[in-house]
Amino acid sequence: MRYPLEPDRTEMESLAETVLARAVGFVNELQERPASLAGVPQAEIRDLQRRLLAPPPEHPEDLQYILERMAAATDLAVETAGPGYLGYIPGGGLFAGAVADLYARATNRYVGMAGTAPGLAALEWSVVRWLADLMGMPDGGGGILVSGGSIANFAAVVAARERLQEDLAAGVVYLTEEAHQSVAKAVRLAGLPRRALRVVPCASDLRMDVAALEGMIASDRRAGLRPFMVVASAGTTNTGVVDPLEAVADVAARNGIWLHVDGAYGGFFRLTARGLALLAGIERADSVTLDPHKSLFAPYGTGALVVRDVETLRAAHAVSGHYLQDLDEQLVPDAADLGPELTRELRGLRIWLPLHLYGVGAFRDALDEKLDLAQHAFRRLAAEGTLELPVPPTLTVVGLRMRGRDEAESDQLSRLLLQRVNLGRRAFLSSTVVGGRFTVRLAILAHRTHQDRVDEAVDAIIGAARDLA
Ligand SMILES: Cc1ncc(COP(=O)(O)O)c(C=O)c1O
Repeated sequence: MRYPLEPDRTEMESLAETVLARAVGFVNELQERPASLAGVPQAEIRDLQRRLLAPPPEHPEDLQYILERMAAATDLAVETAGPGYLGYIPGGGLFAGAVADLYARATNRYVGMAGTAPGLAALEWSVVRWLADLMGMPDGGGGILVSGGSIANFAAVVAARERLQEDLAAGVVYLTEEAHQSVAKAVRLAGLPRRALRVVPCASDLRMDVAALEGMIASDRRAGLRPFMVVASAGTTNTGVVDPLEAVADVAARNGIWLHVDGAYGGFFRLTARGLALLAGIERADSVTLDPHKSLFAPYGTGALVVRDVETLRAAHAVSGHYLQDLDEQLVPDAADLGPELTRELRGLRIWLPLHLYGVGAFRDALDEKLDLAQHAFRRLAAEGTLELPVPPTLTVVGLRMRGRDEAESDQLSRLLLQRVNLGRRAFLSSTVVGGRFTVRLAILAHRTHQDRVDEAVDAIIGAARDLA
């Protein structure tokens, strides 16, 4: 009897080699692939989407035909893996991380409970402990690998929420307007009322106004509410600004409230000497969000929450079921007790394998390089008279605007600048609003982005700015 779902060794090798050849070919061409989708007609996009919406066939299709559609679907995209990806928060996706995934998925170990794969549970915990150590957490610290920063922020709110002992109606969470929107979403998903969110004003440097925070906490207390959490940013998405972490930690400590630091973008800069200084105070947080799929260059789907006391995560998430009674307790915690998932993918290997293969130093050097590149881009752009650079880069985001006769013209020219640069398809930039003004962003983070591409993007920006001025 032949079972089509169980290929033999030759068939497995042939399938894997064919697909791997395509994937390696793709990665090898990243330097040349168009960075953006700008200029691709909508009709072409819709036509491809219509073809790809077809349901699966009853009988097998030819592998080459399948791969052609996979490639067509992949090609029509912003090149998020390439060196020209300078929009939003890049990451890139380490090839070694993808290989780790193939291994993890082929071996398909169950890593929800440590007892079913004690070795892999320890391997994942070694990654979590390394992350916690990197953030300066004490011995009782730990955490959980999740799918991304949004879920990490959610797990943090769920853990902090325990302090309310289910009296959610009076709870209050403090964040700034510069905080990532996933924090507000997490508060809502965690069942807190919309009025639970307090937006703390920022000073002119876009960092949290700590005196205002303290005042708001006091006034909420007087009103009979229960302030329980403050969220500070270690690298905002908009501009990469870091909140005054020591001062926020002082306020949190004085008021007995949970300090969460969203380090999804900036947290890993602690690997560098400059980042260590910039992020001082993060070690006082109760919890920190990290996104290895951003600044550790892991493939998408890799986020982390680390906490100073693992028991806080356990208190919020652990449940028991008779069907799990046969498993022995292990040296390391059950991931299911620390987060929302029971069955979960092995995320640790796609961080562990590259860390062991290349060593931590390779990641430190890559992040140092990005800090240098941001300063380099800033210096070049700031010297261009047609441009205005509203915020000097703290980490690796550079914001810029066209100068104009007035704000409206400046806004309009900046929009045109963004369009022009993206139409060149060598760089993909995105935009935001800083202080109510349209601002183009250059976010330098992907491991494949080096000085040649940054200079190319800067040349394109300056060229377009001069044309428009
Ligand atoms: C500061 C910050 N926090 C949270 C997130 C959300 O992370 P994810 O997209 O991995 O869910 C992002 C994403 O860009 C971010 O920049």
